[in-house]
Amino acid sequence: MNDLIAPYGGELADLFADAARVAELKESALSMPSCDVTPRQQSDLDLLMSGAYSPLRGFMRQADYARVLKEMRLSDGTFWPMPITLDIGEALAGKVAAGQSLALRDLEGVLLAVLHIEDIWRPDRAAEAQALYGTVDPAHPGVAQLLHKTQPVYVGGRVEGVEAVVHHSFTDLRHSPAELRHQFAKRGWVQVAAFHTAAPIHAAQRKLSARAAQELGTNLLLHPVVEEEDDYYYRVRCYRAVLEHYPQQTTQLSLLAIPSRGAGVRELLWHAIVRRNYGCSHLLWEAGTEHGYGIDGAALQEAISKYGDELGVEFEPREPLVYVEDSADFLPPAQVPSGARTRAMDQTELQRRLREGLEIPNWFSYPEVIRELQSRYPARAKQGLTLFFTGLSGAGKSTIAKAVLAKLLELGGRPVTLLDGDVVRKNLSSELGFSREHRNLNIRRIGYVASEITKNGGIAICAPIAPYAEVRREVRQMINQYGGFIEIHVATSLEICEGRDRKGLYAKARAGIIKEFTGISDPYEAPENPELRIDTHGLTIDEAAQRVFLYLEQQGYIA
Ligand code: PPS
Repeated sequence: MNDLIAPYGGELADLFADAARVAELKESALSMPSCDVTPRQQSDLDLLMSGAYSPLRGFMRQADYARVLKEMRLSDGTFWPMPITLDIGEALAGKVAAGQSLALRDLEGVLLAVLHIEDIWRPDRAAEAQALYGTVDPAHPGVAQLLHKTQPVYVGGRVEGVEAVVHHSFTDLRHSPAELRHQFAKRGWVQVAAFHTAAPIHAAQRKLSARAAQELGTNLLLHPVVEEEDDYYYRVRCYRAVLEHYPQQTTQLSLLAIPSRGAGVRELLWHAIVRRNYGCSHLLWEAGTEHGYGIDGAALQEAISKYGDELGVEFEPREPLVYVEDSADFLPPAQVPSGARTRAMDQTELQRRLREGLEIPNWFSYPEVIRELQSRYPARAKQGLTLFFTGLSGAGKSTIAKAVLAKLLELGGRPVTLLDGDVVRKNLSSELGFSREHRNLNIRRIGYVASEITKNGGIAICAPIAPYAEVRREVRQMINQYGGFIEIHVATSLEICEGRDRKGLYAKARAGIIKEFTGISDPYEAPENPELRIDTHGLTIDEAAQRVFLYLEQQGYIA
């Protein structure tokens, strides 16, 4: 009998220790080596402790791991397709051995569980990737994730749960398997179809899921998979909003925080087991949107016929519905009358409409969901953005930046922050000098602050010299994920800057009093493709600022 595996038959493996044992564990954990689990490990631990990974009772031992990779079975023959392992670093591996216990703590040091180590080994990651993904090509995101794991050692053994992982967001939408089963029973729900998705639910998916549940004669659990990435909050708000459009008595929403592996059919089979543990009888999804499953129909059919009976869950992929304009309804492709006028909107078109602030048609989604989308992907005129001036000392960066700041403040609408080179150096970067390393660090700091401002919908105006192209590129990437990045090269020539020499720094640089001076004794790599290039020679400050404004208007950043 394998004591790491609870029997099937619907029984949940509850790994939490009782109060007396928790007190004992807390006491003994004080002298145990500790592992601070990563967010993904913490999610796995959470699912293990609550029984969502039943029949597992701990992180896999080597024999289970090896057989799961080879034939999707635990060492006792029970079907289980996904390795659930705990990886640790060299330093910790040197301190632990089989027979010892390991305290598993969250990032704040709170004791979540104790792992009684039975096995400790070094996995062959390439072999694991081959088994899971059928390739070792790092272009596959699953392979990349696996091969980049820097913690080379696996530890396996029984887990005793001390404290459930605390979630601070959407707590009313998080349930343990026991809680969901209990709620289903209380409401008289016998058969429940879990609707799997990793994207917002719009009108087509609402219709598809409600219709499928009706056909199957089941209740419906909206069971989106979530990881706490940037889109998480907005996506869950969308689910909340769409829930109002389902029949309230027969539908429920719950979040499944499960770290995705991107492992195709294996992942789907694994998700089916997890859904069964949550008390569901069917796994429902919109075909073609398996989100990381990467499944072809034939492989899926083969897996279902081979393992379906062991899972106790029916697989219900559904063809995406088509919107038929004449009847203002969504229909399965086979039922669309020939010649009927249909409408469709793919992700690219949706993103374009959002970016340009165009209307999102009502047939596509619900007003509350559209509002969420619009606030997540605001039109350019409402997005955060960074104006990044770069150029030699004395080129006029600060002067133009200040004029632009005044005009943007006059316009109103978004908060504006000026991160001027000199001012940043007095505050944020007061300990830094002008070596390449220090300049890059200075620019990264400015970039970080600007990215936070941009993320939160403000306008950041930066005006450092930023002489090196590579770090400017880095900052561009960092900011572009949140909003606009406009690089403005203030291309005043060295002769003119030196001729002005308002601070007398060029003279000192020429005299060798100031070392590593940009343009004199240190390089300036002019941007090759800035959004704007302004030579201040013969321009008034207002004219230069006007150029910036015209560009912002032309690009839709200001209305
Ligand atoms: S960098 O390279 O982007 O980190 O520089 P930055 O933070 O913009 O700081 C530039 C201002 O510092 C003064 N200063 C120097 N500049 C260039 N090279 C050297 N060695 C140097 N030493 C001091 C100078 O006043 C710069 O201000 P601006 O406003 O650009 O003239």
